[in-house]
Amino acid sequence: EKGGYDYFMLKEIAEQPKAVADTLLGRIDASGALSLDEVRISPSELREVDKVVVVACGTAFHAGLIAKYAIEHWTRIPCEVELASEFRYRDPILDARTLVIAISQSGETMDTLMALRHAREQGARVLAVCNTNGSTIPRESDAVLYTHAGPEVAVASTKAFLTQLVACYLVALYLGQVRGTKWGDEIQAVVRDLSRISCEVERVLETMEPVRELARSLAGKNTVLFLGRHVGYPVALEGALKLKELAYMHAEGFAAGELKHGPIALIEEDLPVVVVVPSPRGRSVLHDKIVSNIQEIRARGARTIVIAEEGDEAVVPYADHLIRIPATPTLLQPLVATVPLQVFACELATARGNEVDQPRNLAKSVTVE
Ligand code: M6R
Repeated sequence: EKGGYDYFMLKEIAEQPKAVADTLLGRIDASGALSLDEVRISPSELREVDKVVVVACGTAFHAGLIAKYAIEHWTRIPCEVELASEFRYRDPILDARTLVIAISQSGETMDTLMALRHAREQGARVLAVCNTNGSTIPRESDAVLYTHAGPEVAVASTKAFLTQLVACYLVALYLGQVRGTKWGDEIQAVVRDLSRISCEVERVLETMEPVRELARSLAGKNTVLFLGRHVGYPVALEGALKLKELAYMHAEGFAAGELKHGPIALIEEDLPVVVVVPSPRGRSVLHDKIVSNIQEIRARGARTIVIAEEGDEAVVPYADHLIRIPATPTLLQPLVATVPLQVFACELATARGNEVDQPRNLAKSVTVE
């Protein structure tokens, strides 16, 4: 069943290129246009949408955080992202023009289900992004876009996360297409890059041995910090969550711009800090800022583990360990930047003798509060 792998998690990490490709399959036509008729919300209804609210838990919430950057950039529709467990007990402002996106691998997460019921009671339309056919969340939603990751068995979510990202990009691009916002060269280029991205994920997987080695060398550490900016910030949160649940280590993700507002006080000699570096192309201001953040933490003794695009030479002098990822447009970078963090956490868990597929105290699907 594990297809020759020691753990389901390893198998599922390896399946990511296919999962990503399968989730795109049939949804982009030869001309680069998106066809999401299956979601059953008509283009005229989508043109009415004036606010998007994403609700989810855990890793799916991190996918939602990334979706916000894409949705707002490509559609100019305001987008909020909220933990389902918070949203469901609040009095959010919603109406028939609000599109709520509920993201869930299992389709059975209690808080996400309750959040979508809460949204529908107030007249909002709910689109589920889900990996499990016929599960409760898509059944109770107005529409569904299935991720085609295939069954995910390991408690730690990997391929479901990447496909949730793909689904969110598709929704964002589709909204842009039907509304005619930014529908031009930029979007066409993104669609082309998205169609090629599963090969890039494959390339990342082929270069993971040094990441595994690094993970083993850190097995005795107590804390690992993760820093990112822009879409790299949710990636940092996801890297930290993976490490908590698998390695049982203290791990925290921060927005790099917040360092001086507190977290930099945590930096001490030889503390491993993973930094997700945005592309130096495009919005290079983000890149330059993070390079100075790396310098700052290194000057205070941090052991810097830098995830940066191939060809990014500016980071080299400040990286104690350098993990290369292929060049992608900024908004798509999480699809390649998350993979080394999954491998890192999985290997650390193994080195620490933890049960990889069934971490202590956790269940695959949280159907209680
Ligand atoms: O099935 P769901 O996507 O609704 O699950 C949400 C979270 O429980 C889930 O992502 C959890 O955080 C994972 N164990 C993370 O690896």
